[in-house]
Amino acid sequence: MKKRIAIFASGSGSNAQKIMEHFKYSDDAEVALVLSNNPEAYVLQRADNFEIPSHVFDRHDFYQTDEIVSLLKRLEIDLVVLAGFLWLVPQNLLNAFPNKIINIHPSLLPKHGGKGMYGDRVHKAVLAAGDEEHGITIHFVNENFDDGEIIYQGRFRVEKGDTLEILKFNGQQLEHLHYPKVLEGLIKKYN
Ligand code: GAR
Repeated sequence: MKKRIAIFASGSGSNAQKIMEHFKYSDDAEVALVLSNNPEAYVLQRADNFEIPSHVFDRHDFYQTDEIVSLLKRLEIDLVVLAGFLWLVPQNLLNAFPNKIINIHPSLLPKHGGKGMYGDRVHKAVLAAGDEEHGITIHFVNENFDDGEIIYQGRFRVEKGDTLEILKFNGQQLEHLHYPKVLEGLIKKYN
């Protein structure tokens, strides 16, 4: 049986796109659902392009009800993937999917993670700190922001004169290359 993936994303969804592409013809897994807290998120259009169903929810649904857990269970989801999802995952969802919720973060955690650290803010912090190295982290999700056990880190050197755009581009290339492969590796282990 193919494993079934649900992707949570709040914005553009370029990582979600790479994951949907990667598993489109896979025998191991499929993306069965895309969820977003943001009705304007471009990721919803991307899901549509792949003819993958999507679901939009609000703060009340997510934090005060079991609606999302019930939906994921009803659709027999095996793996929950966060791809640019900016809300903290509530305990009922963590309990329903122990060690089955994965996140990607655009820095070498534990550096430059935590509440409010996303997008350009992360790369600005790297430049401000004068870091010589930067990268990405793929990790299990726990009750804190950007904090669970690390599964994979990809790194690159920060060169003199690098701008925010360069750091962002380098990080994004690493994310797009590695996130689908790391997920595939995890799924193969579950089989
Ligand atoms: C990605 O860079 C991801 O690492 C980051 O959001 C971006 C989403 O881009 N996630 C976080 O910062 C989580 N703390 P995308 O919508 O184009 O995939």
